[in-house]
Amino acid sequence: MTTSEIAPVAAGESDRASFRAGPVDEESRERLAANGLEYRRVAVDGDDYADWLQSAARGFQDGERSPEQVAASRERSGYRRVTGVYDPLAPVAQAPVATIASWIGDLTVPGAAVIPSCAISSVTVSPTHRRRGIARAMLEGELRATRDAGVPVAMLTVSESPLYGRYGFAPAASATAWTIETKRAAWIGPRPAGRVDFIPRDRVRELMPVLHERVRHRTAGEIDIAGSFWDMFAGTNPAAERTGEKRAIQYADASGEVRGAAVYAVRENESDFTKGTVSVHHLVAETDDAYAALWRFLLELDLVAEVQAQNLSLDEPLLWMIADQRAARITVRDHQYVRIIDVAAALETRRYGAAGRLVLEVSDPLGFATGTYVLDVDASGAGRVRRVDEGESVDAVVLSLGIAELSATYLGGVSVATLAAAGRVDVRDAGGAASTRSEAVATASSVLGWHTAPRLSIWY
Ligand SMILES: CC(C)(COP(=O)(O)OP(=O)(O)OC[C@H]1O[C@@H](n2cnc3c(N)ncnc32)[C@H](O)[C@@H]1OP(=O)(O)O)[C@@H](O)C(=O)NCCC(=O)NCCS
Repeated sequence: MTTSEIAPVAAGESDRASFRAGPVDEESRERLAANGLEYRRVAVDGDDYADWLQSAARGFQDGERSPEQVAASRERSGYRRVTGVYDPLAPVAQAPVATIASWIGDLTVPGAAVIPSCAISSVTVSPTHRRRGIARAMLEGELRATRDAGVPVAMLTVSESPLYGRYGFAPAASATAWTIETKRAAWIGPRPAGRVDFIPRDRVRELMPVLHERVRHRTAGEIDIAGSFWDMFAGTNPAAERTGEKRAIQYADASGEVRGAAVYAVRENESDFTKGTVSVHHLVAETDDAYAALWRFLLELDLVAEVQAQNLSLDEPLLWMIADQRAARITVRDHQYVRIIDVAAALETRRYGAAGRLVLEVSDPLGFATGTYVLDVDASGAGRVRRVDEGESVDAVVLSLGIAELSATYLGGVSVATLAAAGRVDVRDAGGAASTRSEAVATASSVLGWHTAPRLSIWY
């Protein structure tokens, strides 16, 4: 199955701008107003933004932002639709009691295509106002605004796992966190012919977004990354602290073309100078050689006993580049959450693991996607979706599932077989094409599957 003919379809800037400037959802506005609360958008360049940012920071139990940090955030947040909930009776009424931010991003899906997806972030409700339905009003409101803008998918990363399933989100791409004992690991991977060099932080700030743009379409789960994130990784945000500890390197191939870069910091071990710890803040590699050269550099640093890295994939080649795989302690967690809003648009954008026909009986707690659909996947892996007419019978394997479960499969991060074994999906054969349930499960798994694990390299 080839993916070369698939053109990524990104959201246009005008769609993004009108979503940013669009109104808050009327249903949620009325619901909050009935409880004496005001739900409104906040202009990033306006007077209300500083208070909004302070409330969001406090909501995450973080410290107060300095004037420099507020200014740096304001300068870098123009891409966000920013919304607050205000309590006019609070002693500091200009400080929102709840915050949320969103923007239309590009989500890479299986087959190297991208789909416009609403990223949701900065969800906080003040401890003084918690458990009164404010988060629910904001989440439902942003999802309805997303639907109204014609954006077929929403996505987020989470502070706590149990929060978002009730709105139809599911973990669709896992992240792995690695701690590698460097003395034990022993590099057995390639030793590419190019060179690794130190570069200034402002140079890596320029390089990383360019490299990311070249690679993000290859991996389901990745998104387009705003400038503020690159400043954070590179330590080039003027308001950031302890930037001096960040070290930046690049890999250039034998022809001198830069193919990868990384930013890391070393924490000294005061009781044993030979046992420092490296934290890899971000590593982006356009080629296998760049990947190998950068990781080898990090694992072979002198005076370092441990390398730590976050947000790696479930199937990192790195594991096969060290002689002792037990030198790496790897923990897996839910990371990129996805919520399909428009089933046909979402499913027709991704590619599939095998040709076949499935019927999807989808239930959706918010009603956006509820319905019965037929997915027909052709030999090229492209899918066509239509709704099943009332009374129509379709000869195919039938999956009965919630929108969260369908969303969980969307990036190829979990198989139907796993979800069926977990009791999260009901699979049956309506037409007799598969003679046993396990054959029906196998068919559905191979159609909805994908050959590489999805990954998202940032937390947003
Ligand atoms: C998480 C948070 C936003 C919830 O806000 P809230 O206004 O208290 O939530 P709501 O009252 O709207 O609750 C909505 C639902 O989520 C559930 N819920 C809320 N917080 C929860 C938690 N920490 N764990 C599990 N469920 C939770 C509620 O029981 C409720 O369930 P239901 O509507 O299905 O009955 C708020 O506690 C907060 O700001 N936490 C700290 C910051 C944070 O972690 N934000 C999330 C970033 S991803």
